[in-house]
Amino acid sequence: MQDNATTKTARLTIDGTDYELPMYSPTAGPDVVDIRKLYAQAQVFTYDPGFTSTAATDSSITFIDGDKGELLHRGYPIDQLAEKSHYLEVCYLLLYGALPTAEELEDFELRVTSHTMLHEQMMYLFRGFRRDAHPMAIMVGVVGAMSAFYHDSTDITDPWQREVASVRLVAKMPTIAAMAYKYSIGQPFVYPRNNLDYASNFLQMCFSVPAEDYEVNPILSRAMDRIFTLHADHEQNASTSTVRLASSSGANPFACIAAGIACLWGPAHGGANQAALEMLREIGTVDRIPEYIARAKDKNDPFRLMGFGHRVYKNFDPRAKVMKQSADEVLDLLGIHDNPTLQVAKELEKIATHDEYFIEKKLYPNVDFYSGIILDAMGFPTSMFTPIFAVARTVGWISQWKEMIEDPAMKIGRPRQLYCGASRRDYVDVENR
Ligand code: CMC
Repeated sequence: MQDNATTKTARLTIDGTDYELPMYSPTAGPDVVDIRKLYAQAQVFTYDPGFTSTAATDSSITFIDGDKGELLHRGYPIDQLAEKSHYLEVCYLLLYGALPTAEELEDFELRVTSHTMLHEQMMYLFRGFRRDAHPMAIMVGVVGAMSAFYHDSTDITDPWQREVASVRLVAKMPTIAAMAYKYSIGQPFVYPRNNLDYASNFLQMCFSVPAEDYEVNPILSRAMDRIFTLHADHEQNASTSTVRLASSSGANPFACIAAGIACLWGPAHGGANQAALEMLREIGTVDRIPEYIARAKDKNDPFRLMGFGHRVYKNFDPRAKVMKQSADEVLDLLGIHDNPTLQVAKELEKIATHDEYFIEKKLYPNVDFYSGIILDAMGFPTSMFTPIFAVARTVGWISQWKEMIEDPAMKIGRPRQLYCGASRRDYVDVENR
């Protein structure tokens, strides 16, 4: 960070004493004020619940300009990557920092595809769950349990083990998600096929059955790949920060990714894609939209329009633009034009993007508003939407984890607090309370 030091200094005055705080300039985005020595110098903490003004780390992986609606991975705009690249190439870019040469890509794809199978003993883990368990519950458990199966890649101090763990996680997540799905519908598990690309393999593990031949439709496979690409990384979001915090204690990567999956599950984060489609279905018909818009604006009603709004984007989510186009392609291919959920989605988008409340608060459709429509058309149940997000985001979590572990300045994350509880008081015996 010292290389980024600016000539600017922030000055803070507390009770008449001035404190000078160094400032840094990032490659892009706002300058940051370094408060690391503030407590030692002034005995005060800063207060920022929800991290609205706090850079928790420095990072070179992903950049978001929320006002412009721009998302860059290692400098490359997401719309270019979604159009010209594919998921495994983006994985390479995120993990290693540069676009691969043809040989590097071939080698990486080979390494990923040779790790797609799961330890056979893990089948029993799946069978221990109730059939009606949410696939995210299964994923949290099974990914955490990988540390019980892959002992040779849990030592985070060994760069080779870190590399093997990274490739294993990218390779095995689709297998785990597909198995969670198959288990929930009572069908036999389908093994990975390494002659298929990443997205096609996932589709065949989810939708093929041993009794019939299955051919992957290339347009659906492209749409699946795009969904993976658009969700690959998103800077220091809640689940990524969870992975970083969990890893900062030195915990093994499988346990840390399981923590990320748990955080992603919430409806304010990755769970929003499931919640958005369920909301569209609940609205049901276009004439009921005003009722839901009114509820979203009502301060006394906790209801929110799912798939709208973002902590960072105060403009159209760039991923949503690509996702919307992808939704049109998939629905066209499948001949779905008069689907009532789609009609509600289109009308809701139109009304909300013209409504004063949403304009003033800069609430635009986010990636989750459209992804559910595509996944639904492909035949996935809503419960699989968030597991698919988890499959895609795994590479982002791992890239951020690797970056953190490889940083010699890494420290355990240990936030402080504004304590508002009782002052010191003496214990009172039960008979005197
Ligand atoms: N519907 C109605 N009002 C909203 C919505 C919404 N979806 N989102 C924010 N607001 C209002 C909110 O009530 C608040 O109003 P006021 O200033 O009057 O109190 C204002 O907008 C700011 O909201 P906030 O909760 O302070 O903003 P935040 O940055 O903490 O929350 C968010 C961001 C994504 C959690 C929120 O917009 C939300 O809950 N959206 C719905 C869930 C969703 O779609 N999540 C997916 C995010 S994209 C995928 C991902 O990153 O995981």
